[in-house]
Amino acid sequence: MKPKSVRAFAPATVANVCCGFDILGFAVNYPGDEVILTLRDDSKISVIAIHGDNGKLPLDANKNTASVAVQSLLKELGSNQGVNIELFKNLALGSGMGSSAASGVAALVAMNHLLGNPLKREDLVRHAMESERIACGSAHADNVAPCLLGGFVLVREYHPLDLVKIPVAHDLFCTLVHPHLELKTEDSRRVLKPTLPLKDVITQSGNIAGLILGLIKPDFELIGRSLKDVIAEPIRSAFIPGFDQLRSKAIEVGALGFGISGSGPTVFSISTSYEKAMASGEVIEQEFLKYQLASDVFVSKINMEGARVME
Ligand code: HSE
Repeated sequence: MKPKSVRAFAPATVANVCCGFDILGFAVNYPGDEVILTLRDDSKISVIAIHGDNGKLPLDANKNTASVAVQSLLKELGSNQGVNIELFKNLALGSGMGSSAASGVAALVAMNHLLGNPLKREDLVRHAMESERIACGSAHADNVAPCLLGGFVLVREYHPLDLVKIPVAHDLFCTLVHPHLELKTEDSRRVLKPTLPLKDVITQSGNIAGLILGLIKPDFELIGRSLKDVIAEPIRSAFIPGFDQLRSKAIEVGALGFGISGSGPTVFSISTSYEKAMASGEVIEQEFLKYQLASDVFVSKINMEGARVME
């Protein structure tokens, strides 16, 4: 007999990874969002409770990222199965850690499981992108794809969607430092320039190619040299107090590279050991304190599996 209820977890993700604006992201082991989905006897899709959001997220099923993703899945399947969704938000809203993506992905993975897994993980990505569309007006895939598939995922093309999982060295550690600021993705996308000088396109292309090659070889120095962003970071870093200093400090204690996680304000660094990743977290946290900003620090290996059903 198929289960009627299931719990699922979807991890935080780092989108862009400096040079891969809207086309590259990776997943970490924690933190992440959880959901409990319970099938109903009717066709209603209902968000019955949200915990941990301080009442900020909508319970309206047409506006909530978890239910919108589930609606999109059911529509494709031609199913009128109803479901209750209970959401446990562990990821701060507007943090740059893929919060809206995680809620949508957790709900999708749970719903797909309850239906007997009719869709493969890759095929859930387009439904998870609907969560991003409802959350910030842009259906980018650089959070939802690694959240569903794990590891580093390249969005080679959007139309049609072509995702490539990068075979990476497993022993990389990510440090995420979330200063207690909220930055809406919609706002931090609006400030970006719609067109780019050719020289910036050339620089960014070199870095994304270098980063991917560095991850595959692996060549840690190449990864470090390539973790640069000339498109979004020069504009968005203005929202993050002490940004240049944060980078210098993280690199001083051994991080390979440093940048803005997604649309910020969370910053991330990548290191080759747990000790260096912890040291990076500590110095970044101390720097933020100089601006009276408390922050949360998370150190994790790269998550190679993505979201998971928990029971
Ligand atoms: N690639 C997106 C951005 C990620 O930087 O706007 C944010 O969700």
